Amino acid sequence: MTSSNAEWQERKLAAMARGQGNIAPVYIERGENAELWDVEGNRYIDFGTGIAVCNTGHSNPRVVAAVTDQVERFSHTCVMVTPYDSAVRLAEKLNELAPGDSAKKSMFVTTGAEAVENTIKIARAYTGRRGVIAFNGGFHGRTMMAMGLTGKITPYKNLFGPFPGEVYHAPFPIEYHGVSVEDSIKALKSLFKVDIAPTDVAAIIVEPVQGEGGFYSAPNEFMQTLRAICDEHGIVMIADEIQTGFGRTGKFFACEYAGIEPDLITIAKGIAGGYPLAAVTGKAEIMDAPLPGGLGGTYGGSPVGCAAALAVIDVIHEEGLVERANAIGAKFGKRLKGLQEKLPHTVGAIRCDRGAMIAIELVEGGDVAKPAAELTKALVAAAYENGLVLLSCGVNGNVIRFLPALTISDELIDEGLDILEACLEKLT
Ligand SMILES: Cc1ncc(COP(=O)(O)O)c(C=O)c1O
Repeated sequence: MTSSNAEWQERKLAAMARGQGNIAPVYIERGENAELWDVEGNRYIDFGTGIAVCNTGHSNPRVVAAVTDQVERFSHTCVMVTPYDSAVRLAEKLNELAPGDSAKKSMFVTTGAEAVENTIKIARAYTGRRGVIAFNGGFHGRTMMAMGLTGKITPYKNLFGPFPGEVYHAPFPIEYHGVSVEDSIKALKSLFKVDIAPTDVAAIIVEPVQGEGGFYSAPNEFMQTLRAICDEHGIVMIADEIQTGFGRTGKFFACEYAGIEPDLITIAKGIAGGYPLAAVTGKAEIMDAPLPGGLGGTYGGSPVGCAAALAVIDVIHEEGLVERANAIGAKFGKRLKGLQEKLPHTVGAIRCDRGAMIAIELVEGGDVAKPAAELTKALVAAAYENGLVLLSCGVNGNVIRFLPALTISDELIDEGLDILEACLEKLT
């Protein structure tokens, strides 16, 4: 009987396509809140939450109870055939939670990429226009349109073209890398002169904090200027909150930092604590542009996902997890600053201004232009060997991102950061 991580990894490599790669040869048997145990009985502190999904912790008892109750009653009828109350109640909650005063509506799908696809369909149906603008370094998923919108080639786009047409990219403002808000807006406006008239643009899609791209938060001024440009030209503004949503950044949705109301928001990952559910929530008038039957799918808004999401929302509110995200960010920030003081030539930047969406950028010799990608890879590998689940990201592969459950204890944060520090000090 297979019982070791190495044996499972061998079987995985033989049985599963290499394109669906895995970061660590660690096979999980059980999880509880912010800890995981593998098939060999090794314990891990989880700073990854399955990429920002289990914000309410692994196997949160409230979510488990809601899901169990649901599957005992029924697991699927298709919301497009004979619906159920949980989908309606969840849509009502999302409409309430989405920022801004306009009347809202929601629709459900299964994954983040599908939510992104649907925002483009909705924006095109509403405006009757073709073009979509996205940003360099942005990540929007692995389906065709979402991949076309993604602003990073390897590993997401090479080998997979041609991509859907009428997608244009502008630089995302990152002061640390010498791109100001002004630079970015200037480039966007030059697209309007060079590539596509603003009156032909259906939508601009932006992550309020770039996730896979490296955890760079969009300055408030940038989000506000995008809002103004969209208003001026009748363009639909889409906030991709798939990684930033559901309390992760210390607000329920990250675009609240800029005080703006996007026209459409994509929601996935943290919405259902690990059950495949995603949504688009937006201004009712825009959401209703497609014809009945034009949106959805067999599993979109699965009753199991909806039950989980309703429980997740209750847990977030009752346990004050949005506020907790800020406390987690502050705690990480303090310890990571200490690490930067010890290793100033390696820890180039710390990002802890958006709740529990935290990162450090590793460089060589303190030089912003020299990303330490090999060190980042080695650090992630060493962390797993020492019982810490760690994720990297970034266009240059030199960012360590921290996405702990919002239910994690201070003790576990300290224990995890002790492992991180010891590994990084050993490697430098
Ligand atoms: C901002 C953003 N958009 C879209 C996606 C795609 O979501 P999914 O992997 O569920 O399709 C992701 C996933 O990481 C994401 O972070």
